[in-house]
Amino acid sequence: MPEPKEAWSSRLGVILAVAGSAVGLGNFLRFPGLAAQYGGAAFMIAYFVALLLLGIPIGWTEWTMGRQGGLAGYHSSPGIFHAIVRHPLGKYLGLMGFIIPVVVYMYYVYIEAWCLGYALNAASGTFSHVGIDYGKFFADFTGAGANGVAIHFGLKDVGLFVVLVYIANFYFIYKGLSKGIEFVCKWGMPVLILIALIILGRVMTLGTPDPAKPDQNVLNGLGYMWNPHGIWNGFGQPGLGDPQLWLAAAGQIFFSLSVGFGAIITYASYLRKKDDVVLSGLTAASANEFCEVGLGGLITVPAAFVFLGAAGIAGQGTFGLGFKVLPFVFSKMPFGDFFATIFYVLLFIAAITSSLSMLQPGVAFFEEGLRLKRKAAMGALALLTGLGTMIVWWFSKDLKALDTIDFWIGTVGIFIQGMILVATYSWIIGIEEGWKETHAGAAMRIPGFYKPVLQFVSPLFLFLVFLMFIGANVLGWNFSFAAPQFHPTSYVADLVGPHPSNVARGTFLFTLAVIALIGWLVHIAGRNWSTGATGGNTR
Ligand code: PHE
Repeated sequence: MPEPKEAWSSRLGVILAVAGSAVGLGNFLRFPGLAAQYGGAAFMIAYFVALLLLGIPIGWTEWTMGRQGGLAGYHSSPGIFHAIVRHPLGKYLGLMGFIIPVVVYMYYVYIEAWCLGYALNAASGTFSHVGIDYGKFFADFTGAGANGVAIHFGLKDVGLFVVLVYIANFYFIYKGLSKGIEFVCKWGMPVLILIALIILGRVMTLGTPDPAKPDQNVLNGLGYMWNPHGIWNGFGQPGLGDPQLWLAAAGQIFFSLSVGFGAIITYASYLRKKDDVVLSGLTAASANEFCEVGLGGLITVPAAFVFLGAAGIAGQGTFGLGFKVLPFVFSKMPFGDFFATIFYVLLFIAAITSSLSMLQPGVAFFEEGLRLKRKAAMGALALLTGLGTMIVWWFSKDLKALDTIDFWIGTVGIFIQGMILVATYSWIIGIEEGWKETHAGAAMRIPGFYKPVLQFVSPLFLFLVFLMFIGANVLGWNFSFAAPQFHPTSYVADLVGPHPSNVARGTFLFTLAVIALIGWLVHIAGRNWSTGATGGNTR
C-alpha cells in the first residue's frame, strides 16, 4: 500500500516551519557574537546588503525550485535537481543539498543537547551554587576539556541529553510533516517569542547593577553591540574595508536563513501548485530577522556587558558567550535560576525546530531514491547521523571534531550550494522562465530589479565573497599585494600544517567518506529514477 502523501496543513504552517528552521542557535548565539566582534553598525551594513542581495533572492529561488520539484513528485534536493535540470548529471547539482543538512545535523544536535542539559541544570539550581566555575562546568559537560570524557549520563553530563534529543527529533520526524514538524513549530515558535520577550524585558530593565561601575549599564551594553567602531577605515582595515567582515556577514545570512542548506528546498517541495512562494518566503525571512536582530541582538551581548563590561565579552566566541558567560550573568540577577532556565529552554526550542529541518531532506531521499519505507529510511538516517554524532561526542577536546565539520561543510558547503542554486535558477532554468514559475500563485510581485540581481549581482557577489573566503579563511592571505603573506588558518593547518591534528584529519576523512557514500547513493537513486522505479509524479 503506498504511504499517504505528505503535505503541509496550512499556509501558516509552512511559514512557521520554515521560520522554525531559520530561527535557531544562529540567531541567539552566533549573530550577537559576530556583530559585536566585527564592530556593530559596520557589520550591520554588510549584513543587510547580504540579506537583500543574497539571502532573500536566493531564498526565493530555493522556494521556487522546491515547489517545482515537489510537483514532479520529488522531495529531496538530488531528486528535485534531477527533475528540473533533466540531464543525467543534474541530480549531482543537488548533492550538497543532501550532504549539508545530514552532516550539519551530526554536530548541531550535539549543541541542542547542551541547551536541554543547561535548561535542566539551571532549573535544579546548578548555576547559582556559590563557587561554581562556569568554564570548568562547560568543559566537563561538553567534553571540551578532554576526549572521551563526555560519555557519561548524569545531570551534569551531556550523555543523557544526546539520547533524549535523538529520540525527540526522530519521533517528530516519524510523526510526519504536519503532525510532527508543523506541530512542533506551531507551538514552539510562539513560545519561543514569548520567552524572548520576557528575557528582553528583564535585560532592558537591568539599569546599572553595580553602582561602583557606572559605565556598565544597559545603554552602554547596547552601544557596545550597535555603535559603529569605524565604518570605513580603508581597505584591509577594520570596518567595511575588511574582507573578513563581508565573509562573516554573508555566511551569517545563509546560516541564519537556512538558505543554501537544502532544508528550504525540501520544505517547499510539499507545497501545492498554486501555493504562494514569494510572500511566504519573505514572511519567513522577516520572522527570522525579527528574532535575530530584534531579539537575539538585544539580549545576549547587552546582558553580558552589564555584568562583565567589554573585557568579559571580547574573545569569548559563540559558545563561550552562551555557555560560560551567560550562566554567570543570570546568577547575578534576582530570580536568576528562573531566567536561566527559560533562556536555555528558548535555545532548545530554537534548536529543535532547526534540527528537524535537517532530517527531513535525508528521510525524503531515502524514501524516494532508495525506495525505503519511512521506518527504514529513518533507521538508515539515524545510523548515519548517529555515527557522526558519536565522533563529535567522543573527540570533544577543544570541540575539534565539531569545529572541523562546521567549517568545511557548514561554511564552505553553503557557499557552494548557494552558487549552484542561483546559477541553476538564473542560467539553467533561465531567468524569464524562473521568474514566471516563482510568480505562479504569488500574492505579491517581486520588484523588477531583482531580475538582474538574480542574474548577475547575486552570483557575482557570492563568487567574490567565496574567493575572499578562500583567500582569507583557507589560505590566510593578508590581502596585500605589496607584501603578501599567507598564514593558513587553523582549519587548513590542522590538516596539512607542520603540526597536524589527528582528530581534525580523521574528522575530515570521515566527512569525505560520507560525501562519497552519499554520492554513490545518489547514483543508485538516479538509476531508479530513470527506470521509473521510484519518484516521479505518481499523482
Ligand atoms: N538557521 C539555523 C540557525 O540559525 C541553522 C540551520 C541551518 C538550520 C540550516 C537548518 C538548516 O541556527
